[in-house]
Amino acid sequence: MSSPVPQTIRLRVGNRYENIELVQAILEEVLEPLEIDDESRYWMDIALREALTNAIKHGNALDPRKKVEVALEVGACAIDIVVEDEGSGFDPAAVEDPLAPDNLLKTQGRGIFYMRKFMDKIEYAFGAAGGTKVRLHKKFGGACAGAEGDQGGTDED
Ligand SMILES: Nc1ncnc2c1ncn2[C@@H]1O[C@H](COP(=O)(O)OP(=O)(O)OP(=O)(O)O)[C@@H](O)[C@H]1O
Ligand SMILES: [Mg+2]
Repeated sequence: MSSPVPQTIRLRVGNRYENIELVQAILEEVLEPLEIDDESRYWMDIALREALTNAIKHGNALDPRKKVEVALEVGACAIDIVVEDEGSGFDPAAVEDPLAPDNLLKTQGRGIFYMRKFMDKIEYAFGAAGGTKVRLHKKFGGACAGAEGDQGGTDED
């Protein structure tokens, strides 16, 4: 199946961990025909999973009545993955550094670190009435490397 680009896919899923795999499968399907190196595919998948886990667990506090909205804004040479929850937000600047000596042995607190490390850009936005929106931007390598502009996604929203 070929995916035309640019295109934006919007999903609104129930606040359940089971839906993480569903959204991951859709991302995989959408990226499948595009020229992307395997490592980038892998890290996009991990970043999406971390963003969804945070939305479901920390944002929506595991409340099954809440929803998570996802937008996959696919361009020819980059993607923006946007994940939004209905939580009450948080201060990303106050999140502890997992590389600090006191945190090195902790098994949690690595999701945002991974997203920052393996995406090209990560931005948080918070709605006036609540809700956290994280936007993960990733340029495709391979044939796109060095392309002028990345045409990442569309400008709607
Ligand atoms: N969508 C969100 N809404 C509210 N708080 C959040 C959200 N995302 C992250 N946080 C806060 O930021 C902290 C750090 O998130 P991060 O993903 O780095 O680690 P973690 O979720 O605690 O552990 P891990 O991801 O390694 O299992 C969380 O513990 C939580 O307090
Ligand atoms: Mg996390």
